[in-house]
Amino acid sequence: MGSKGIAWYAGESLAPSAWVAPEPLHCPDMSCPIGTDVERAAGLLVRGGLVAFATETVYGLGADALNQRAVARIFEAKGRPRFDPLIVHVAEPEWLERLVRSVPENARRLIDRFWPGPLTLVLPKTDLVPDLVTAGLSTVGVRMPAHPSALELLRQAGTPVAAPSANLFGQVSPTAAEHVADQLGSRVDYILDGGPCSVGLESTVLDLSGQFPTLLRPGGLSVEPIEGTIGPIKRADAASDEARPQLAPGMQSTHYATRTPLVLAGREDRLPDAARIGLLAFVPESPLDQFAAVEVLSPQSDIAEAAANLFAAMRRLDAQRLDVIVARPVPNVGLGCAINDRLLRASRRAESEAR
Ligand code: TXA
Ligand code: MG
Repeated sequence: MGSKGIAWYAGESLAPSAWVAPEPLHCPDMSCPIGTDVERAAGLLVRGGLVAFATETVYGLGADALNQRAVARIFEAKGRPRFDPLIVHVAEPEWLERLVRSVPENARRLIDRFWPGPLTLVLPKTDLVPDLVTAGLSTVGVRMPAHPSALELLRQAGTPVAAPSANLFGQVSPTAAEHVADQLGSRVDYILDGGPCSVGLESTVLDLSGQFPTLLRPGGLSVEPIEGTIGPIKRADAASDEARPQLAPGMQSTHYATRTPLVLAGREDRLPDAARIGLLAFVPESPLDQFAAVEVLSPQSDIAEAAANLFAAMRRLDAQRLDVIVARPVPNVGLGCAINDRLLRASRRAESEAR
């Protein structure tokens, strides 16, 4: 396996904190370059830079996972609290071996079937993984993304890359390079443009470190095929998130929020009392005259298409200066569970602000 030759994998020399570029890596005019130059992006990562890159789920904000100072820049750029652990991205399943203490049988089966892909596995970490990456937890979340340019970036950088979604903390995840530029602009050294994300929802996070496999975040891989591979899994209850922020910190109830208040309402529910209402619908509906703006996630009622369109549609509505966005829940099966989860969290911000 080619990856075995690289320094960090072979355990040759890399201590958890490697060399860091002495100067800020931003280009002089502080605007952030966007492009498709994988070599340049990989070079920046190796020198301690911040590179936003496309994955099949959402764009990630990456830094060398073994370089604490580079990782610290991720938290600064996002305004992300340090108690929220980062996912580490690998180019090959073999890279896992130095990041986690052991790979249990159920993890192996899931990896064989779903990597590369939108599945993050949480396993007990080795000392190589800096505490900053895992927010002091003894576990680390790892995934192998299914996007050719992300994989090429990881291979060329030759180091695992810590990357949260490339948005400001608590806001909607980016599914296109322009979304990253809008929110993080000059805070990143390079945006590796890989086009629109095909899945459009963050990865499913599955904790395999405890006695029972536990779903920490529903995401781009639905639960059914996971259970088909390793049997029943426990679902972390969204209602209990606040009680256990250390278990799945990114699962705070007010994540994925638009600036415009968002309410979840079926077609039978009364519309809010507001002048400019936007509609986020799963499928086409009528009448529409009471809405100032409308986004339909999937004209063909296809849940994967709806997932891929969700965050961009939320952003477009958010840009319309609406008083409120009414979102229709989608059928709660397969990827629909993850879509409803994101909508529910976005709606909770409106609730908490109304309180
Ligand atoms: O699809 C994705 O997962 C994207 C792309 C860039 O890979 N990344 C992403 O990262 O969504 P982020 O940081 O926005 O969300 C990571 C989630 C958070 O909910 C975090 O709490 C959880 O994964 N997580 C990471 N490491 C964990 C750990 N050791 N234990 C429990 N939860 C963990
Ligand atoms: Mg995120």
